[in-house]
Formats: sequence, structure tokens, C-alpha cells
Amino acid sequence: MRAQKSTIRSGNSAFSWNELACVALCFFAFSAAGCGHRLAGRWAATGRTLDNGEQEKTILELKQSGNQLSGTIKSLSFSIDVKGTARGNHFELYGPRNPTRPFITGELINGELHGTFGPRQWVAKRATSADDLPTVPYIQPPALHHVSYNGLAKTPPMGWNSWNLFAGRVDDRTVRSIADAMVSSGMRDAGYVYVNIDDTWEGVRDAQGNIQTNPKFPDMKALADYVHSKGLKLGIYSGPGPRTCAGYPASYGHEGQDAKTFAAWGIDYLKYDWCSARTIYKDDQLQAVYQKMGDALQTTGRPIVYSLCEYGLGDVQKWGAEVGGNLWRTTDDIRDQWSSMIGNIEEQVPTAPYAGPGHWNDPDMLEIGNGHMTDDEYRTHMSLWALTAAPLLAGNDVRNMSEATKSILLNKEVIAVDQDPLGKQASPLKNGDLETWIKPLDGGSVAVGVVNLGSAPAQATVNAKALNLKRSVGRARDLWAHKDVRFANGSYSAMVPSHGVLLLKVSSS
Ligand code: GLA
Repeated sequence: MRAQKSTIRSGNSAFSWNELACVALCFFAFSAAGCGHRLAGRWAATGRTLDNGEQEKTILELKQSGNQLSGTIKSLSFSIDVKGTARGNHFELYGPRNPTRPFITGELINGELHGTFGPRQWVAKRATSADDLPTVPYIQPPALHHVSYNGLAKTPPMGWNSWNLFAGRVDDRTVRSIADAMVSSGMRDAGYVYVNIDDTWEGVRDAQGNIQTNPKFPDMKALADYVHSKGLKLGIYSGPGPRTCAGYPASYGHEGQDAKTFAAWGIDYLKYDWCSARTIYKDDQLQAVYQKMGDALQTTGRPIVYSLCEYGLGDVQKWGAEVGGNLWRTTDDIRDQWSSMIGNIEEQVPTAPYAGPGHWNDPDMLEIGNGHMTDDEYRTHMSLWALTAAPLLAGNDVRNMSEATKSILLNKEVIAVDQDPLGKQASPLKNGDLETWIKPLDGGSVAVGVVNLGSAPAQATVNAKALNLKRSVGRARDLWAHKDVRFANGSYSAMVPSHGVLLLKVSSS
């Protein structure tokens, strides 16, 4: 998530006398505990050049006591408190989220810090005043009030989003070709209408403060026209802080202006990501901050789906609709991995009472078709998203889908469960490795999914009584096998593969 995405890299600097003396002392004392305070102080790392021409900069402020380190890593996009240890020239720093896996590891070499930051190498030199990050003046968000419902997203939004697969590699050409494929693959006709550009489209602001696109998106209005001409809608991404998670300019202090720009471009959906807002606001201001953009979008007069992305902070499900939100993330970023997908859906569980037409809990975008789960796991992914009335935003390359991926994403019977107008979010009942999710549907029928979390095939049994039907079972249909099945003596049983799912729609007689 978020902060880990920024880079620290490069820079040259001299070997100071202080450090030389310390190295010498260390050498003679054979100290294993680092040398005095050699790592203490402010370090500046210059990162990559963004697609808008700006250069990332990260400041590491460290205190050292013996071999104990503490401090902060700051950039325009984030600020993270770190703690760690020094052993000789080697040091390790841990972030607050994972005290067992180092966030940064490195060495002090010739007066520079050389290290690894996630997959990236970085070099930091002693910071000077020229490295100071610009100060961002605090703007108090307006008092809380109710933002009226915009009438959109009566069923969970469906579409595609660029982040899971393309991340920073998204551009105009890709989006156009995705839009073409949404039509030719049948995705649009199955209901996936939003084509959403995530982070890294942003340019810099002009002299009047208007946000511009970077060269990857030469003409956003023309792109929106193109997407609209295909019977699709265009989504965009920003955030309430000064910077997005990938370090690009976000909407802080320009909320109304950005909303107007998005509307003028023809944008239909905004994902609004907390990211660097945490460097300005406290968590108890989340509602007021999100309300500000909720108001701004409504002022434009254009119907724009409002997607809150703040990873479930501050019990967003309790106030997301109040600020005009149509959906809100309930979890951290999903990864194309069974444990991540299941972890996200488990985190979604307490939010169930808050889902309904116009306002949905969002356990993040789909990973189906991205290649790191089995087809059984992807069927479970799709089933769980449908049972929990989650937004269905494909995150794969829809231009190039295997038959299996198509059969999952385009399963109209499963999509219908997700899009059921009643808008109920199922909750699980656990029985060993089996989890049963029951979702009441419009018209009195129910969808029931039994997920096998275990590592061996297991027999799943659905008892009619548990379904709370008005009368006895009438029709029962297996939504993955696409065939009707028979309940005998009040139950139906089937073998479910490891990590697989049995998904039925059951109607009363
Ligand atoms: C955050 C969000 C992701 C994505 C990235 C973009 O991590 O949670 O979904 O939008 O930012 O930088």
C-alpha cells in the first residue's frame, strides 16, 4: 500500500571528517553497535522522475542512541515513523505496519546511505536546506452536513480499473484499446461500463491552479469522448491530500476547481484516495475531508460516481453515504494472491449492514485473470464479490483474456447476484474449513455460496432450512455449472475443490 510505493534513490556526497573519525574509532573498538551517531541526522534521497517531469524527493530524519534508531521518512506523499537498529555500518528500519519485516535496509558507505527500499535501490546524502520539502498550509475542512444522494450506483458499480495490472504504465492508447476490448469481449454488455484511469495520469497545475494531464494523456476530453462513443463511461483518480499515492499532484486546496475540471472533461466516476492526506489531517477529520469533494462534485451538476478510497479508516461505512459517497474501500490494497483476496473479504464482513442501493462497501478491485490464482480461486473471488454486493471492477488485461477468465468475469448468472436490486451484503457462517454465505435476493430467492478454505476437497451441504425461504425449495441452480440441481430431503450436497466454491441460486416453490 501507499507509502511503500515511493522511491528513494541516487545522490553523491563527500566522506565527512566526523565519519572518518568514527570509522577509525569503530575499527579500534570493534564496536558491534554502530558508531556513535553516524546515522543520525537528515538524509535526502532523490527519487525517480515522474511522468509529469517532477522529481521525487524523500527525507529521512534519524536519531541514534547506541544501536537503536528512530525517526521519520517523509516525502510530499507520505510521512512514516520508523524504528530500527544499526550494526556497524549496516542498518535496518521498520515501519509501524510490519515490525518483523524491515521497511528499509542499508549501509553507510562513504558518507552516503545505500539501501534497499522494497524492490528498489536507493542512495541518500546528508540533507541541506535546499532539500527542505515545501510546507503545505493547513486548510480547515468545512463543518459536517449531509450531502444529498446523487442518484447513481443503484447497484454496485461495474467496470475496469487500470491499477492492478498497469499501475504507472497506463496511458491514453492503453485506455482506448481497453475500451475497444470492453466492447468486443462482451464486458460492456455484461454491465462493466466504467473504464477507470487510476493514479499517474496527473500533470502539474497551470498558473491558475488548474490540474493538467501529463504527456501520457494528451487530451483527456478527447479520451472521454472516445470512451463515451463506445457506450462506456470514464473514471479518474485523485485524492484529498497534496499528492497521490504515486506522488503526483492531488486535489488538496483545489477540490472545487478539480471537480469542475473533471466535469468539463466528461468524467463519470472519481476514485478519491486518502494517501498523503494523512500528512495534513487527523483520522477524525476523514468525514469532513471526504465531504468537501462530495460537495464539490455535486456543485458541478454532472452525475459523477464518488468512490472513497481510504482503506476502511474511521469506520467509513458509517458515514460514507453522508458525504455523498457511492462506494468506499473497506480494506487495504488487494494483491493477486489467495490470502490477500480472502483477507480482504473477511475485513468486509463487519460492514454488511451498511451496503445498499447507492452506497456500497468495496473490498477492492478484481484480480481475476491476472495469473496468480487458480481458476477455482478466481471463481471463489467472483462469487464472494457477488455475494457481498461488492463493486465489480475488473483489473486484468481485458484485451487478452483466456476462455477461463472470460467464463468467470462474464458469468451473467453470477453478475446478476452481485447486481441484485435489493443490494444485500451476505455474511459468512463458518463450519470448519467451509464458509457459507447467504444473500437474500429481490423477489424472495437467495444466493448461497459455500467456500472451501481448506487444502483438500470437501463436501458442502446446503440445508434448505438455513435459507429462510418463504416456502419449500422450488428451483435450485448451480451458477458455475449452469445447471439446475435437486434438493433431496431438504438439502443439497456437492464436492467442492480446495479453495473452490459451490454457488447456488435457490427460489421457493
Ligand atoms: C492506493 C490505492 C490503490 C491505487 C494506488 C494508486 O494504494 O489503494 O487502489 O489507487 O493507491 O497509487
